[in-house]
Amino acid sequence: SSFCGSLRRNPANKQQDIENKTAMVYQATASAPVNIACIKYWGKRDTKLILPTNSSLSVTLSQDHLRSTTTSRADPSFSKDRLWLNGKEEEIVAPGRLATCIAELKKLRKELVEDKDESAPKVIADSILPLFALLKMIIQLSTVPVHIASFNNFPTAAGLASSASGFAALVSSLAALYALPCSPSTLSLIARQGSGSACRSLFGGYVAWEQGVLDDGSDSLAVEVAPRSHWPEMHALICVVSDDKKGTSSTSGMQRTVQTSELLQHRIKHVVPKRMKEIEAAIKAKDFDAFAKVTMADSNQFHAVALDTEPPIFYMNDVSRSIIALIVEYNRVAIEKTGKRKAAYTYDAGPNAVIYTLQENVKEIVELIVKYFPQKDGFKDPFQLFAGGSVGEGRVV
Ligand code: ADP
Ligand code: DP6
Ligand code: CO
Repeated sequence: SSFCGSLRRNPANKQQDIENKTAMVYQATASAPVNIACIKYWGKRDTKLILPTNSSLSVTLSQDHLRSTTTSRADPSFSKDRLWLNGKEEEIVAPGRLATCIAELKKLRKELVEDKDESAPKVIADSILPLFALLKMIIQLSTVPVHIASFNNFPTAAGLASSASGFAALVSSLAALYALPCSPSTLSLIARQGSGSACRSLFGGYVAWEQGVLDDGSDSLAVEVAPRSHWPEMHALICVVSDDKKGTSSTSGMQRTVQTSELLQHRIKHVVPKRMKEIEAAIKAKDFDAFAKVTMADSNQFHAVALDTEPPIFYMNDVSRSIIALIVEYNRVAIEKTGKRKAAYTYDAGPNAVIYTLQENVKEIVELIVKYFPQKDGFKDPFQLFAGGSVGEGRVV
């Protein structure tokens, strides 16, 4: 069509111009890493705005291993917003999460151009009517439909936080497309409305999601507790026990827990606030023993509230539990020798283990795991040691 390829690039989008020299349309690509919580988010007080029942804290992993990469393209020849995840189209239906995030970012673009900066250049396209081909049409970029393609380089919906990296990458890519001068905190408010855990992937290093108290959610956002450089010795080992899609999504699982679990009420009132303080102090002091103790305790309690749900939810399997036994034994020996723990397991809503440890122990733990869970073909139920990732710096747009 005469519309296609006739968008003039917006000089405000210089960064994208460098990336897309040949593209005649507006396009931006962003990647985001996963984050694995030490203090788990599980429960919403507002399901539409995604406001949590408790604060949480996570470590953002390096993008070298697990990441989502998302490309957004605006083109007036598109008839509507569309999104493909790993090559398969996902419906965008308002007021769903995808539609909400896209609408929020379009709103910011509209405000940026119309209110804040009246001289900001507009998108200019050729008229669709051949007769008026010489007449240019002025179009606001915020009104142009977008096509979005996202890929995860690791199992989706398997308890490895794909919704976190996925929505962080989506928000980052649209923010780049629209050249929004937003801080990661502001973007975290939008990513939160895609998937709660996604707000924490807007920062690298050690990140808290403060639950907030306001009804509009404007104080429920991610904040950096410490950058990666504060404690670069920290490593995460990801053990992919199963890459199957989980039986109960995080969204529906936590909703059922909120409705049926008394233990959750105890957890959010009496346990998490204390643990948030403990883990922040452990991170600031680089006290791995304290970090490990509270991380494992919180993983255990999260899986206990899943079990306390009606009907009960089981995210871990026999292999997950064997890995716990191995780490407990490894720590028992370490405590006997030095009085301190050397590793911490944690499990999200799935059977896959994440083991936090310091660089100096990585080799020993990998050898231990490979010894007890052989990686060779021929074993029926081995798990794949996916990555020995360092803590990440944060997103790269
Ligand atoms: P996980 O443990 O992997 O986070 P969830 O149940 O929380 O599993 O969420 C999985 C859902 O997140 C997917 O079904 C999909 O809707 C969404 N999602 C995953 N990756 C992406 C992505 N790259 N872009 C957009 N949405 C994504
Ligand atoms: C166990 O963020 O995936 O990984 O907000 O409904 O999308 P939604 O849920 P999601 O839940 C994550 C739960 C968890 C713990 C955590 O990451 O804090
Ligand atoms: Co998730």
